[in-house]
Amino acid sequence: MDFLTDQDAKKYQEDGYLILDGLLSPAECDELRLRMGEIVDRMDVPEHCRIQFSTNHDEQLKTQMQGNADYFITSGDKIRFFFEKGVFDDKGDFTVPKERSLNKIGHALHAYEPLYKTATHSPKIQGIAKKLGLKSPVILQSMYIFKQPGIGGEVTPHQDATFLHTEPLGRVMGVWIALEDATLDNGCLWFIPGSHNNGITRRMVRTPEGTYPLTDFVGREATYDDKLFIPAPVKKGGVVLIEGKVVHKSEQNASEKSRHVYTFHIMESQETKWNPENWLQPTEDLPFPALYTK
Ligand code: FE2
Repeated sequence: MDFLTDQDAKKYQEDGYLILDGLLSPAECDELRLRMGEIVDRMDVPEHCRIQFSTNHDEQLKTQMQGNADYFITSGDKIRFFFEKGVFDDKGDFTVPKERSLNKIGHALHAYEPLYKTATHSPKIQGIAKKLGLKSPVILQSMYIFKQPGIGGEVTPHQDATFLHTEPLGRVMGVWIALEDATLDNGCLWFIPGSHNNGITRRMVRTPEGTYPLTDFVGREATYDDKLFIPAPVKKGGVVLIEGKVVHKSEQNASEKSRHVYTFHIMESQETKWNPENWLQPTEDLPFPALYTK
């Protein structure tokens, strides 16, 4: 039987998201986490994160912000490190153990880390895409999200298509794999069911070359009634499918448990125009790889 049933596919289309248990076994989750532990252990902290003393505070801040922006916008075909706020002191040293400092790692684990590549291109994932009728799906990006205990920040309501814009809309799906239980306490996802039917409210665009900031927004995120959000807790090894236009968020992780997630985005590339203004662009090194060959 297919991992994704007809009924599942219908629910995904209706709600704009779907929770499925048992995509990965606990052992497969542990293997991915173990490998991530090694990557974190060997990471080079990027230069712009190490605050250097300067008598000109504004100048220092500007340099840092530009360093941050450059580091982000060129990360589409690399494995790069993004930190929580306040994890470096004014000498540039960690204020927390370094394995507790990261917000996420992105955006090309699916290409350069064999275990993650295998998890991305697994028969179950391919089966989900086929069941949903995708003809030529490609992988856009991938992230490992830590949601650290105590400091894992909230993610405010948004639509993924704001950052991954296509024409027509509706060609992008997030695959969000819980490598640990994601609960109400440690910052699980929340959705507004059916909110994928109303288009998107804003779009992140690259600004003209040579200008800062490197990205800007066209439009504004709507304000949403908190009461409309439904929590989406999921057990270790489970997956949440996220339609690109569905409104979702997650709360700060105030608990003592981390909430590690491996997530990536799939796009139907057939008859789809990838927006050249998106921050993420395919590169010579890494064109968007196909999820499967027909
Ligand atoms: Fe998202």
